[in-house]
Amino acid sequence: MTVYDEQWWEDRYASGEAHWSGRPNDVLVAETADLTPGSALDVGCGTGGDAIWLAEQGWQVTGADVSRTALARAAAAAAERGLAERATWEYADVVTWTPPPHAFDLVTSAFLHVPGGIRDGVIARLASGVAPGGTLLVAQHDPSDLHTVRHGQDPDLFATGEQLVAALPAGEFEVLAAEARPRMGRSHEGEHLHMADVVLRARRRS
Ligand SMILES: C[S@@+](CC[C@H](N)C(=O)[O-])C[C@H]1O[C@@H](n2cnc3c(N)ncnc32)[C@H](O)[C@@H]1O
Repeated sequence: MTVYDEQWWEDRYASGEAHWSGRPNDVLVAETADLTPGSALDVGCGTGGDAIWLAEQGWQVTGADVSRTALARAAAAAAERGLAERATWEYADVVTWTPPPHAFDLVTSAFLHVPGGIRDGVIARLASGVAPGGTLLVAQHDPSDLHTVRHGQDPDLFATGEQLVAALPAGEFEVLAAEARPRMGRSHEGEHLHMADVVLRARRRS
């Protein structure tokens, strides 16, 4: 079974296979529409599509990722857009890294999949970075995408909304969404596919 670790991601970015899409994930755009821009942390930011979009909306963003190649591309893309002052980029491995406590009005993580044995700890650490009244947003491939995405061979990398909610610290968050959302996506060969995202949106109680 493939291990999707730092080296795997570095190789993928270095090979040029993983490009910056140049646009944010639809879930992020939808779920932040009613939020006032403040401080944001994007974990597993890749080459910065979501983080740069947030910076453009007025957020002060920290993008964190385990790939230094991706972070360098994100920083370059932000600088090109005149957003260098609105975005900082940090090497972080979520398997061991903890964000500064209660520091961000928004902590978001899109399509960062980790094995079930460490997922709860990762979600709890992401949640620990959310300020009182702030938002945690997690979007991943829904388990029904098992056969449509590259790491579909390993069911251990997929979680349901209920599993994500169960990892939140008891009583500290109000869950606003924990559900599968269908969308049209594309296979690696470019063919259109019916896919689904699992979306967790939760607000830390003030
Ligand atoms: C599928 S990409 C998603 C990138 C971006 N969030 C997006 O939606 O376009 C997953 C990202 O998570 C990062 N990643 C994987 N494992 C990680 C880890 N343990 N800690 C931090 N980032 C990690 C990868 O380097 C990659 O950039």
